[in-house]
This record gives sequence, structure tokens and C-alpha cells, in this order.
Amino acid sequence: MTKFSFTRNATDGAARTGVIDTPRGQIRTPAFMPVGTAATVKAMMPESVAATGADILLGNTYHLMLRPTAERIAGLGGLHTFMNWDKPILTDSGGFQVMSLASLRKLTEEGVRFASHIDGSKHMLTPERSMEIQKLLGSDIVMCFDECPALPATEAEVAASMRLSMRWAQRSRDAFGDRPGHALFGIQQGGVTRELRAESAEKLKEIGFDGYAVGGLAVGEGQEAMFGVLDYACDMLPEDKPRYLMGVGKPDDIVGAVERGIDMMDCVLPSRSGRTGQAWTRRGQVNIKNARHADDPRPLDEACSCPACSNYSRAYLHHVFRSQEMISGMLLTWHNLHYYQELMAGLRAAISEGRLAAFVADFHALRAQGDI
Ligand code: GUN
Ligand code: ZN
Repeated sequence: MTKFSFTRNATDGAARTGVIDTPRGQIRTPAFMPVGTAATVKAMMPESVAATGADILLGNTYHLMLRPTAERIAGLGGLHTFMNWDKPILTDSGGFQVMSLASLRKLTEEGVRFASHIDGSKHMLTPERSMEIQKLLGSDIVMCFDECPALPATEAEVAASMRLSMRWAQRSRDAFGDRPGHALFGIQQGGVTRELRAESAEKLKEIGFDGYAVGGLAVGEGQEAMFGVLDYACDMLPEDKPRYLMGVGKPDDIVGAVERGIDMMDCVLPSRSGRTGQAWTRRGQVNIKNARHADDPRPLDEACSCPACSNYSRAYLHHVFRSQEMISGMLLTWHNLHYYQELMAGLRAAISEGRLAAFVADFHALRAQGDI
């Protein structure tokens, strides 16, 4: 069986491009992972997600354990079979989603007890239970069970939370065991404090993981503060293992993160905003519900080869959004995911050819021109 491995093919400054090999296929890095929380990337068929260029999806422990349950998915052959996606899947561990979605949360050394946001039923997530659920799902890249402190938090609170996450990282490692072909990623915490980020990285490296995530960012600190952390956080993590920035981001966040040495990212933004009439293009954000599109026969982006841009006008996209037709979310989600994957392909090519700075300058220049 192919083992899980990461090969760096080229670097340009701090940025890297390469390939993660898994038994379910290759992940070209830097990679953007569309979010398929509830065993679906909303409004997309899995083959369409693959057609946008995605090599890997993200799934969520928290949602799937509540409905339809991990045991049911395992009984039906695992998450890949269940949702008809045979490429790699990374699953988040649940802690982060419990904190934002569940009610009646009680955090202890053992784990988090909480009530379901769906029916109020009581559940417990621990590092051991999270590892068990992610194994039942058949996840290819399993995330450690961690806690992301809610902001605003004092430095003392961030430190205590980070140290709890590091004890949970050790328990996640122990519970995960040895599973050839499957990877376990650690998650660095420590807020925007350099010393705490360093302490967290040291602890994770001591435990040893197949990849390292930067967690606890994009939680309201702002892009400048996030880039400030990434300027030193990437250097604290092993050079020869994938680095994953969790929950990021807008296209310019992605470009800045890749410039600083990030290899993987995920975000609901392209799919969620597709369902609310927001499109992301090379020229920035477009709000398709705006009346100025009502008579516009031009495509969203004449340079885009996605189905929405190849076959439909802005006027049509505007009409179906205003009419609340299902095809509206389908077309805009497809366009947005296509745009994100084109951006990743552009970044990968630029890094391999040593012209990342020029690529980034063009990226910002075109956006600054604004929509047509
Ligand atoms: N998604 C976005 N940020 C985080 C984080 O800090 N931890 C986890 N587990 N998931 C995230
Ligand atoms: Zn398009």
C-alpha cells in the first residue's frame, strides 16, 4: 500500500509547491480543500467538485457524528463510498465546531460535553472519541482534537487553552496508533503570541505528526495580524511536512499564506458565498443580485472556463438568484470553486517557475481594477 508522503518539488522564497501522495491519490500543493461538512459540498455533485480541480475535500466530525452518525457511515462502507468521492478526505476533529455550534458546552481535561445544535441530545467528544469517529469515517487525513479559544481572550487564557490542546495532541497521537496510508496532523495554537506559538510547535514536533496545521487564526484578528503570525509560525514547523492553515480564506488571504509557506487551506467561503449571490473573480468580488447585472449579456468573467461563465450571462445569473432558483447556487458555487482552484494552479505554476512575486503583483493589480 502507498504510504502517506510529502514531496517538495520547488520553492520560491518561503513558498513551496509539491505533492502529497496518499493511497487515494495525489494532492497537489499548495492545495485548496472545498468544505463538504455534511457529506456534500453544498449545491455540487462530487464529480463537478473534481472537475473544478479539487484533489481533496474536508469533512466534519462534529456534523457527521450527530447526523447520520459515524457508526452508520461505517456500516455503509465509509464516507468516501457514502458520498461518492473516491479521492482523499481530510476530517476536522470536532472541537472547533463544538465551540461555535453546540450549546451547553462543558470543557474539562477529559474533553467537551455538549448538546447537539440539531436536537439538543447530549454528546461527549474527547481526543480518543474523535480519533475513533474519524477512523469510522475512513478519513485519509485525521486532525488532532484541539480547542480554539473564543476571542476576546487574555494571553493567560490562550496559554492555558494551548497547553490543554497539546495534552490532547498527545492523547490523539496515542489513540490514533499506527495506520499505514492514513495521516494524523497536529494543530498549533497560541493565538497571536510568538512565545506561545513556539512552545506549541516544540510540543507537536516532540510528539511527531505527518503534517502540522496552524489553528486559531482567521477568528477575527484581521489579515495583518494573521500574516504577522504566519511570518514566524511556518518557520517553527518542520520543513519536510505539509503545513495546513485551517479555515482560510479570501483569495488574498490564500495568496499571502502561500507566500509565507502554507501548503494546504480550507474555507466555506467559495461554496457558502455562491449560495448568497457572491462571486469571486480575478477582478474581485461581484454581487450578482445588484441591479446593474439585470440587462448584462456578458459572462461573469470572460476568461473563466467554468460552466457558469461559458454558458450563461450575468443577466441570467442575476435572474435566477432573484427568483431563488436552485441553479443559482449551483452555478455560482461551481464558478467560485473553479476560480479558487485556478488560483491554486496559478500559484503552483508560479512557484515551480520561480516567478511568484510577479504572479502576486499581477493578482493584486487585476483586483485593484475592480469588476468590469
Ligand atoms: N478550523 C479553523 N480553525 C481551527 C482550529 O483552530 N482548530 C480546528 N480543529 N479547526 C479549525
Ligand atoms: Zn466562471
